[in-house]
This record gives sequence, structure tokens and C-alpha cells, in this order.
Amino acid sequence: MIELSKKQTEQVSVLYDVYKKDILTRAEINAVVKKGKIQNPSWLKTDKFKVDRGCYKLPLNNAEDNNKVDEKVLDDAPNKQEAAYIVSSLTGDIVPKKDKVFVPFGNYSDVKNIIKSGQFYPCFVTGLSGNGKTMAVTQACAEMKKELIRVNITIETDEDDLLGGYRLKDGQTVWQNGPVIEAMERGALLLLDEIDLASNKIMCLQPILEGSGVFVKKINKFVKPKAGFNVIATANTKGQGSEDGKFIGTNILNEAFLERFPVTFEQKYPTSKIEKKILTNTLKAAGKSDVKFVEKLVTWADVIRRTFFDGGVDEIISTRRLVHITQAYAIFGDKIKAIQLCTNRFDDDTKNSFVELYTKVDSGSSLEDILKEQNEADLSQQLESEDDSDSDDTDADQSASVYN
Ligand SMILES: Nc1ncnc2c1ncn2[C@@H]1O[C@H](COP(=O)(O)OP(=O)(O)OP(=O)(O)O)[C@@H](O)[C@H]1O
Ligand SMILES: [Mg+2]
Repeated sequence: MIELSKKQTEQVSVLYDVYKKDILTRAEINAVVKKGKIQNPSWLKTDKFKVDRGCYKLPLNNAEDNNKVDEKVLDDAPNKQEAAYIVSSLTGDIVPKKDKVFVPFGNYSDVKNIIKSGQFYPCFVTGLSGNGKTMAVTQACAEMKKELIRVNITIETDEDDLLGGYRLKDGQTVWQNGPVIEAMERGALLLLDEIDLASNKIMCLQPILEGSGVFVKKINKFVKPKAGFNVIATANTKGQGSEDGKFIGTNILNEAFLERFPVTFEQKYPTSKIEKKILTNTLKAAGKSDVKFVEKLVTWADVIRRTFFDGGVDEIISTRRLVHITQAYAIFGDKIKAIQLCTNRFDDDTKNSFVELYTKVDSGSSLEDILKEQNEADLSQQLESEDDSDSDDTDADQSASVYN
């Protein structure tokens, strides 16, 4: 039996906990050090524990199995409560602040009613990027004075990130609750943002989505949700992948996981009236006002969205992008420059056609005029291609020519 110090025992416990095996490579040990979970255990990476080239055996013989190592760590702690268990990293007020620019629309009132009901009723909010999904949930909490914990999910998100894990604090390895456990213990709303980016490592949420408690095996504790705890997930897809490939990185979520959300809200872009209010508020927050520009921007976005949904262009202008344009206008004082800067992220053809379309709207063309012109252009293009069936490039670059 090898005598280890308390700190060494803790390091062994964390390493075993991460990999669930007793022979680790140098790289595996270093990865845990890099994550900040333990200090570098240079004592372990020595000949004494070496079993192969770059491989070290964890001295688990201090305990018969991992549970015992865990128990030992906890039992040896001079003050069990303080040293081995950080209850909360979130102190103070976690109710979101009200945003002066916010204009309620879409599922906002439904989300508010769910919060008001105090019931555990998980919801899934889906919709294209930048149409206010996250903001609606945040602002519903702000209005209802509801505590909110937002977790941005990625493909890397795992049980450790969600439920909690051992962290290094003041030279000691301590347990820290993850955001899910925090939200359960506080009775807060848990916002799982961009849930469709997750891998199946989020399946640890299954019992939590049923409203029952969860057994956190690493600390041997059953956590029951406090009244008021609820979960809202947002995503650009419905968890079935992204058919058009627009949302790279989205994954197909487990059917049983999706089944645990009783309702799904389909968030659309705001109506023109609401979007005008949002842009007016954005300009006002920047100390400006320009009713005509706001109206034209909204008409412009409306034409682009209609064309996008008809398959005429590959890109769309989101509410978020319109907000960015009004902010750029407030800073630079130049409408075309603002539109150019904020559409530079698209390919040249798309960007040029968007800017050109804006100049048409700016010169007084109405939504109806532009759509009529567009339909006529489509028709004549169709006739031309029928007449000239030899021509290969009639349809080339549709996105560039669609507004011309
Ligand atoms: N109701 C609203 N009132 C005011 N501004 C809004 C509203 N909805 C959206 N916006 C503006 O659009 C931006 C994007 O909104 P939000 O982050 O909620 O979009 P999202 O749908 O969650 O997008 P993503 O799918 O990319 O996460 C906000 O930062 C805000 O500027
Ligand atoms: Mg969002």
C-alpha cells in the first residue's frame, strides 16, 4: 500500500473519476491539469508509477474501489461542508435585467404564462437565427423577476459541465455544482440555449426533464428540484438536423429526449410593425431617430425574407442583422455604409444584390413594386431559358440577379 498525502489522494480520485480506469497516459493526465481540475501531479508521472512508456498506474490501492476513494476524500476533509462542497458559484441576483429596446412578440406571452404558472413544463423554442428566441425567454424572466440560468450548449457539453464536477480552488479539489443543479436547487428557470448543438452526452438530463430529482453519483447526493424549477430549450432546428446545411454543427437529438418537451414554439420573425418598433428603440438607445430609414430597412428585409422563402436567395436578413445595421448607422451616420458593413459577411453576389435592393427601396419603390418587378423578371428569365435551351448559364447566379 502506497501512502499518499491528502492532496495526492484527491488528484488520484479526480483522475479516476474522469477516465474510470487506473492506467493513464501522460497526455490524459495533462488534459485534466489543463482543464484546471487538478494541479500537475508530477509525483505520479515518475518511474514509481510507470507501467509502460508514457503510461502511469493510479495508486488506487488506498481504496478498494473508486467509491471508497471518494468517501476517503470526503471523510478526510477537515470541514466536509466547506472544503469538499462548493454549494454555489452564483451569488447575488441572477434575475436578468430588463432591456429598454425589447418589444414583446411571438411566444413571449406564452413563455410568461408558463413562468407564471409555476409549473414544471419544459418547452422547446425553435426558429431561424437572430429572431429573438433567447431574448424572449430572458426578458420574460426579467419581467416576472424569475431567476434564470443560461447554459450555452456545444458538442463538448457533458455531465461535468451540466451537473458539476471537481474544480481546483485555493489549492484544493472541491466539488462545484453545475448550472443544472444550481437551477434545480434555486427553483430557477434553466435555459438550454442552442440545444441542437449537443452530443448524446446531454442524456444525463433525462430524469431532470421528467421533473424528478437526479442522483449525482459523484457526490452521492440526490438533488430534488425546488418549486419553480423549469427548463426551456432553444434551437435553430427541431432537433432533426439541418436539411439545407445552413446550421452547421447541429445534431439529430435523441427522440426520447425530444419527447420530454411537452410543447414546441415555432418562433417566426417579427411582423413589420413590431420590427419597426425594435429598430426605433435601437436608434433611440443610441440617441438617434430616423423614421424613414427604419421603414425602409423593414421593407428591405421583408422583400429579402419573402425571396428567401421562395428559394430565390440563399441568405436572409435577421432581426439581429437589422439591429446591427441601425447601430452601424448610429455610429457612422451613413446608411449605405452601414448596410455594406453589415452585409459584408455574405458572398459578393449576395451582398451586392442586397445593397442594390436597398437603393431601390431607398428611391421610393414599395414592397409591392419590387415583388411585381421580381416576378416579371423571373417570368422573362423562364421564357428566355425555354427559347434558348442551348444556353447553359441562364440560371447561373440566381441570387445575384434576383433583384436586378
Ligand atoms: N423582441 C425583441 N425586441 C428587441 N430586440 C430584439 C427582439 N428580438 C430580437 N431582438 C434583437 O435581435 C437580437 C437577436 O436576438 P436573439 O439573440 O434572441 O436571437 P435568437 O433567436 O436567440 O438567435 P440565435 O438562434 O442565433 O441564438 C437581439 O440581440 C436583439 O438585438
Ligand atoms: Mg439564441
